[in-house]
Amino acid sequence: MAVEWWKSSVVYQVYPLSFKDSNNDGIGDLQGIIEKLPYLANLGIDVIWLNPIFESPLVDNGYDISDYEKILPQYGTMADFQELLNKAHEFNIKIILDLVVNHTSDLHHWFIESKKDRKNDYADYYIWKDPKPDGSAPNNWGSTFGGPAWEYVESRNQYYLHCFAKEQPDLNWESETVRQEIYQMMRKWFELGIDGFRMDVISLISKDPAYPDASQTLAYTKSYYAGASNGPRVHEFLQEMNHEVLSDFDVMTVGETPNTNSTQAQLYTFPERKELDMVFHFDHMHLDYGKYGKFSDIRFKLSDLKKVLTEWQNKLANGWNSLYWSNHDQPRAVTRFGDDGVYRETSAKMLATLLHMMKGTPFIFQGEEIGMKNVPFTEIEEYQDIETKYFYQEMLAAGESEEYIKQSVYLKSRDNARTPMPWNGESDSGFSKAKPWIDYSPDNQTINVQKALQDENSIFYYYKKLIALRKAYPIIQLGEYQLINEEDSAVYSYLRKYQGETLLVLCSFSPDTVNVEIPKDLVEKNGEKLIGNYPEKIETLSKTMPLRPYEAVVFLLK
Ligand code: NOJ
Repeated sequence: MAVEWWKSSVVYQVYPLSFKDSNNDGIGDLQGIIEKLPYLANLGIDVIWLNPIFESPLVDNGYDISDYEKILPQYGTMADFQELLNKAHEFNIKIILDLVVNHTSDLHHWFIESKKDRKNDYADYYIWKDPKPDGSAPNNWGSTFGGPAWEYVESRNQYYLHCFAKEQPDLNWESETVRQEIYQMMRKWFELGIDGFRMDVISLISKDPAYPDASQTLAYTKSYYAGASNGPRVHEFLQEMNHEVLSDFDVMTVGETPNTNSTQAQLYTFPERKELDMVFHFDHMHLDYGKYGKFSDIRFKLSDLKKVLTEWQNKLANGWNSLYWSNHDQPRAVTRFGDDGVYRETSAKMLATLLHMMKGTPFIFQGEEIGMKNVPFTEIEEYQDIETKYFYQEMLAAGESEEYIKQSVYLKSRDNARTPMPWNGESDSGFSKAKPWIDYSPDNQTINVQKALQDENSIFYYYKKLIALRKAYPIIQLGEYQLINEEDSAVYSYLRKYQGETLLVLCSFSPDTVNVEIPKDLVEKNGEKLIGNYPEKIETLSKTMPLRPYEAVVFLLK
C-alpha cells in the first residue's frame, strides 16, 4: 500500500503577520507569501501550514476569528488566497490552514447575537452558566492569558466561559447546530482545494458537564484543564467530524493537544479510530518549566529530552508523530535546546538532524532553517504578545526581580518566534518598507536568508539536504525507532530499523569533544555516512568515537 502523502512530507510553518509584507503596511500578507514560494520550493518542503488568515480583531494575533469564511483584509482577499493555493500547488506544495474552533472572537456575529438574551437563535452557541447564589462565577477556573475564565454579561445575567482571553469565548460543542456549522465551514475550505487543517487546542472542545472546581495544585492560568481538556465527548466529536467531513477528502490533520499524554494521544491518532492523523504534544516543551509555567530560566536536561521523545516514538509506533522544536508559541529552538553563541550554526544543524531522522512528520518553523535565535529586546515595551504582557505583570506583582523577569521573558516569550523574517541584512530586513508591527531582531544583520543562500555550508542547505534524505530513504520515513546509550549524558544516539537496514543517528549536546560508544555489531557492518554537520568529515565508525562540540552524524548500515 502506498504511504499516505503526509507521512513522507515535511511541513513549513508560515506565520503570516511576520513572513513578508508586499504592500508596505508593516504587516505580512498573502501576496508576500506568494512572492516567497520559490524560496520554500528551493528548501524542498511539501506543505505550508498557515497560522490563521481569517477575519479577526487580532487580540490574539488571529486566534480570535470573527468570520471563518473571510480573509483578514490586511492579508488580502479571497482571490489572493486562491492565487496562493494555485501557485503553491504548481510548486507541488500543499497548504493547510489553522482551524480555530474551540472558541471564536467576541466579535463573531454568533457571539454578538448569543450574548443579547437567552432566547435568540444563537443563545446556546457558547457556554453560558448562571452565577452562583452569591453572584460569583460558576467555578474557580482561571484563563490562559490571566484573570478568571468566566466573564459576566448583564443582558443574560450569566457568565460565559473563555479558556483564553475574554475576547475568545468558548464554543458550545454540545450543540449539534454548532458542530454542523463548523463541519460545513470546513467542507467549504476543502472544496476550495486546501489540503488539511492544523486544529487549535482541539483537546479542549469537550467540557466536563459538571464544571468541577480545579484543585489549587494546578497553575491558575491552566486550571480550566480540570474540566476542559480531554473531556468526555472529545473522541466522539472528532469521529463525527471525520465521518462527516474529513473522510471525504484526501487531507492531513494535526491536532494541537494541550494537557494530553502519550496514552491519550493514541486515542486521537490510531488510524482505526478515524480521528486525526497526528497531534502536537507538549511534553518536550514542558522540560524547562518553572513556578510560572513556561516563564522560567530553567534549562532542560538531556536525560529528560531522551525520555520524552523516546516515549512518544514508542507509544505512537502504530499511530503517527508530529516532530517539532518550535512554533509561533515557543522560543527559538537554537536558543532553547542548542547553543546560540559560537556553536549556533553547528548546534542548529545538530538539532535539525535529531528531529528530521526521527519517525513522524517534521515541522519547520519559519526562520529555524537559518538558525534564528531569541530576540534580544532590551525594553519590555518591545514585546507585543498578550501572554508575555500578562506574565510580566504577574511576576512583577509577585515581587520577582527585574533581572529574573527580563531573563525569563527573553528565554520564553512567544515574540521570540514572531519578529519579521529577515530576508536580507538591510535596515528593513527586506520585510517591509513601513515600520513593522513588531520590531526587527537586531540579529537580522548577521542572520538572514540572503546570507544563508550565499553560503553552501549554511543551515539552510543542511535542512535542504535533510529534507531530500527523507524523500530518498524509506528507512527515514518508516524505520522503527530505538534509543541506544540511554545513560550517556552528552550524546543522544538512536537507531532506525527497516527491512534489514539500520540507520545510526548520533547527536552531541556537549560544547566539548566527547566519546560515544558504538555497539560492536554496528561497527562491524558496512556503513555509509549520509550526513554530518562538520566540514571535516567522520567517514567510518569505531567502537569509541570522538564527537566534536554539537556534532551530529548519521550512518546507514547494511
Ligand atoms: C494555541 C495557539 O497556537 C496560540 O497561539 C493561541 O493563543 C491559543 N491556541 C488560543 O487559540
